[in-house]
Formats: sequence, structure tokens, C-alpha cells
Amino acid sequence: MDVVIAADPAGAAKAAADIVARALRHRAVNLGVATGSSPVPAYQELAQRAQRGELSFGHARVFLLDEYVGLPRGHAESYHQVIRRDFTEAAGIPDSRIEGPRGDAADLIAEADRYDHVITTHGGIDLQILGIGTNGHIAFNEPPSSLSSRTRVVALAEQTREDNSRFFHHIDDVPQLALTQGLGTISEAREIVLIATGAHKAPAVAAAVEGPLAARCPASILQWHPRATFVVDAAAASQLELPAYGRERKGTRDRG
Ligand code: F6R
Repeated sequence: MDVVIAADPAGAAKAAADIVARALRHRAVNLGVATGSSPVPAYQELAQRAQRGELSFGHARVFLLDEYVGLPRGHAESYHQVIRRDFTEAAGIPDSRIEGPRGDAADLIAEADRYDHVITTHGGIDLQILGIGTNGHIAFNEPPSSLSSRTRVVALAEQTREDNSRFFHHIDDVPQLALTQGLGTISEAREIVLIATGAHKAPAVAAAVEGPLAARCPASILQWHPRATFVVDAAAASQLELPAYGRERKGTRDRG
């Protein structure tokens, strides 16, 4: 696992965008996208590079990690809408190339299976962008989560509902359930970049990078992945103990 420590969130956004840009240069890309605050500066950076003609999402297809259960696709906080607002509209990626589970499906179990199938039939995820919850979740795999779990319906942890209540009028409006790619599903991505910024993420980052591989910290599954990079700012790195992590840019070496 690589860890790249940037000085600040802007540096982390550039380092993460560099990894995505390299993947886009080499081939048509199935890009897995997280919603939430952490990747937004990287999405803005990527959209600006696309607008300047430095890269193209012309052949990219994006795949959501997760979706709230009960919100229709048009709801402002459905992840389908959030990713349009935060990324795809500015990057020039049409709605027809956004894939995601439907949180308003009548049969949620069938919908979870359908979404796993959609990912597989498109050839799998080439590059997955992740955030990390303050409780160590990735996507909505809350602790404890099976390390080989597939896309499924989950109950959101109270911590997650509190963390995400900033996007809703009231915490009671935050859905209780979500559809999420599983840890097994996410692990099949060919490459993974996790973005974390801010001191509030430092305990989760330390547990994921230096703690045991354990269901109590779902992000620790990335220790097992052959091609995963944590891109963090100095504040999110502040509880890491091991000395030898890459600093901004030096760590973002071209791995083809
Ligand atoms: C959202 C998702 C979540 C977030 C995580 C961090 O699609 O997968 O795991 O990445 O909750 O959220 P932020 O970045 O808002 O702190």
C-alpha cells in the first residue's frame, strides 16, 4: 500500500487527480466514484483539467459506490444527483454513463445483485476513488463488515448518520439504510485511491494503514490490495507512526 502525504487538501486533490489522469491516458476507464466531501477538490481539479483539454473523460464510465435507500434518483441528496453536481456535469460525462444502484428499487436484494452484475458486465472497475468514514468505513461498509461482502443493503451507523446530517435539514431526514458495494466488490477494482483530509480523519487513517486487517476497520481491507494508494493531507496523517511514507509528489510515481 502506498501512502502519499500532501501538505494540505489542495495538494491531496492534485496528487489524487494525477493518479486518475494517468489511468485516463492509458485506456478507456471504468471509474468508481465516492461521494461526500473528501474527493470534491480532486473532482474539481479533474473537471478543470478536462475543460482545459489536458485530459478527456470521453471514454470513461462512472460507477457509484453506494446510494441511500428510499431517496428517488431526482432527490437532491441521492448520490446520483450528488455526483452529477460535484463531478460529472463539469467533467462532461453524460448521465447515460453514470451507473449506480437504485435506492428506490422495489426489490432491494435484486437491485444489489443487478448492480454487481452491471459492474461485471462492463468489465469491472479500473480505478476506484474512495473516501473514509470517521469510523473507518469505506462506501457504506460499517464496522464490523465482512471482508468479502458483496453489494447489499446495510443499516447506516449512527456515527455515519450524524456525520452526513450536514447535508440534510435534520438528522431524522438522513436515511437509515443504504445500498453499498461490499468490501469484496471494492477489492476487485484494479487500482484504488483513497482520499482523506482533516484531523477528524486521522484515527481512521491510522487504523486503516497501520492497524490490523480487521472487520472493525473496514478500510483496513486495502492493506490486502495490490495497488492501493492513500492520499492524505498532513492533518489526516497526523496519527501515523511509521516513518517512511511518500511526501507530496515524490510518492505519486507513475505506476503505468
Ligand atoms: C460515499 C462514501 C462514504 C464517504 C465517507 C467519507 O459515497 O462512500 O464512504 O466516502 O463517508 O465522507 P466524507 O468525504 O464526506 O468525509
